[in-house]
Amino acid sequence: MAKPVLITGASSGIGYELARVCAAHQHDVILVARREDRLKDLKEKLEAAHGVQVWPYQADLTEATARQALLDWTQSLGLPLYALVNNAGFGHLQFFAETDWERQNAMVQLNIVALTHLTRLFLPGFIAQGQGRILNVASTAAFLPGPYMAVYYASKAYVMSFTEAIASELEGTGVTATTLCPGPTESEFPDQAQIGEMELFKGKLPSSAEVAVFGYEAMERGQRIAVHGITNQMLTLSTRLLPSKQLAAMMKKLQKPG
Ligand SMILES: NC(=O)c1ccc[n+]([C@@H]2O[C@H](COP(=O)([O-])OP(=O)(O)OC[C@H]3O[C@@H](n4cnc5c(N)ncnc54)[C@H](OP(=O)(O)O)[C@@H]3O)[C@@H](O)[C@H]2O)c1
Repeated sequence: MAKPVLITGASSGIGYELARVCAAHQHDVILVARREDRLKDLKEKLEAAHGVQVWPYQADLTEATARQALLDWTQSLGLPLYALVNNAGFGHLQFFAETDWERQNAMVQLNIVALTHLTRLFLPGFIAQGQGRILNVASTAAFLPGPYMAVYYASKAYVMSFTEAIASELEGTGVTATTLCPGPTESEFPDQAQIGEMELFKGKLPSSAEVAVFGYEAMERGQRIAVHGITNQMLTLSTRLLPSKQLAAMMKKLQKPG
């Protein structure tokens, strides 16, 4: 049996499309998210289209016990992984002083803690087998401060720094770690984050499918940081040249809630 790819946040958007790309490349897949009906529906589609094996796994990854249970379940099935894709994440637009703490805390738990914990749980298995791939989904938000989405932007900066550091630690082990940085992309993310009306999200956006193909290929190459799209690549390059105060002022203007 082929080793599966485990994908978090596979019930919609980029994670859903990553599952389709992996299955099209003949990988078995483990689909993780809270909306089990969607995962079951995707399982049927992928098995019919590609003849791969698909396991839907319902979990709220903000819970530490759910993350440990996910590792235990894969081990009980004797399923060593080919790759771990930490994609689940969300954002929220609001003046920080007025934010709902529960929501901010859940964002930290999902975007930072779950991604770090799952990496810690599955990495020893990859190292023991002398091969494995980790794809952590950050964002172009990782490159600059984001007023009115302060925690989200900071969480993605964490993802990029953490992933680049472990990629360096993993040299010579046969295991690679890739940070995927999409810019604004069509998915449920803008509505969830209440930023659908923002200028950044108007006009023609790349589809989740395009970003998924790009991310999968970067993961396969073992690329350290993969920024999707030429405009985003220029933007992230320019953040290396401008003072962060100026970047924050620019994002403040762009993201000011209406
Ligand atoms: N779309 C963009 O513009 C954009 C840009 C840059 C980066 N990103 C990043 O790309 C990643 C994927 O986002 P997307 O755009 O595909 O958004 P999306 O369509 O909203 O997908 C988010 C996924 O995360 C899952 N999820 C949310 N909370 C969860 C929880 N507590 N436990 C388990 N799964 C959970 C959701 O599934 P359930 O609700 O079923 O649990 C869903 O499958 C995120 O990390 C996001 O920050 C997106």
